[in-house]
Amino acid sequence: MSLDQFLSRLDQLQSDAESAFTSASDAAALEEARVTFLGAKKGQLKDIQKMLGGIEKADKPAAGAKLNAVKSAINSAFEGAQQNLAGGDDSGADPTFDPTLPGTRPSLGHIHPITQTNSHLTEIMGRMGFEVAEGPEVEDPWHNFVALNIPEDHPARDPLDNFYLATAKDPSGKSSVSAGDEGSQLLRSQTSTVQIRVMKEGQPPIRIISLGRVYRPDAPDATHFPMFHQMEGLLVDTNVTMANLKTVLRVFANNYLGEDVEIRFRPSFFPFTEPSVEVDFLWNGTWIEFGGAGMIDPNVFAAVGYDPEKVSGFAFGLGVERLCMRRHGITDIRDLYSGDLRFLKQF
Ligand code: DAH
Repeated sequence: MSLDQFLSRLDQLQSDAESAFTSASDAAALEEARVTFLGAKKGQLKDIQKMLGGIEKADKPAAGAKLNAVKSAINSAFEGAQQNLAGGDDSGADPTFDPTLPGTRPSLGHIHPITQTNSHLTEIMGRMGFEVAEGPEVEDPWHNFVALNIPEDHPARDPLDNFYLATAKDPSGKSSVSAGDEGSQLLRSQTSTVQIRVMKEGQPPIRIISLGRVYRPDAPDATHFPMFHQMEGLLVDTNVTMANLKTVLRVFANNYLGEDVEIRFRPSFFPFTEPSVEVDFLWNGTWIEFGGAGMIDPNVFAAVGYDPEKVSGFAFGLGVERLCMRRHGITDIRDLYSGDLRFLKQF
């Protein structure tokens, strides 16, 4: 074969390959074209390369140089087509962009410590057979007080100690709402309301917890906040005793606060339990109350239509923030709700 023939074969091959690559409309077509022109065994470039042997010795350097030029032109035509198919036309790329520099890490949010605590408490109580129940945060006085045996003149019902929603009852705002007004709604002051809802809806045996927000108009300080969380527990069955209650709370405390935690039960009073106790844990040498508990008062059973002669049960209400604070060594409840990321990021 003459040099001229060889060179024109190469030119022809280059333009055939380039047009085949640019017209390939998808990856499969491009691959087919690649095999046709650049295939290691039967590719057309390979065929022409073999013809180099038949070229006059004097013409070989020129033929070889052209072959190399065509080869790289075809290769880059292939790569260009590949990039276009991948949408990778980088002709408009920022020339100052340096892909080797470390990137800016996207900052991921994470779960609030109180939500994490709620999940942890749910998991511990779940292992003792307690299922999760929920109730509304806007409540009526019947669920928040009356059914819980809290009489009308009880200080817990004082408008100054509760967030009554005057506007919910009377949008005109004319009538003032008194504590005894059964129609007026309020932000629940305790999760004990959920006990009533669960007992009204079902029959014993009952074994539930309810975790959620409660509201009281307290001035915020290191240990008080107008909104906080409680974990309510309720177990109703036959022959339930105070020993069952103490065992559940002790097992719970050991699981959440550690085997070495010291807790104590103090006699106390709640309208909805009889007898009643308050539960404290020891923290840095100081006893801190973290909840109330007791055996369900017969009046509460009567309010939900249970026969107090047949069923018995216990209930407890624990302060979620207090538990979380002791476990994590948090000394100011306001830190939990400040929204300060330097604090929240630690959890
Ligand atoms: N509801 C009470 C409170 O908010 C706590 C409490 C005490 C809940 C005794 C109970 C209980 O279920 O049995 O202070």
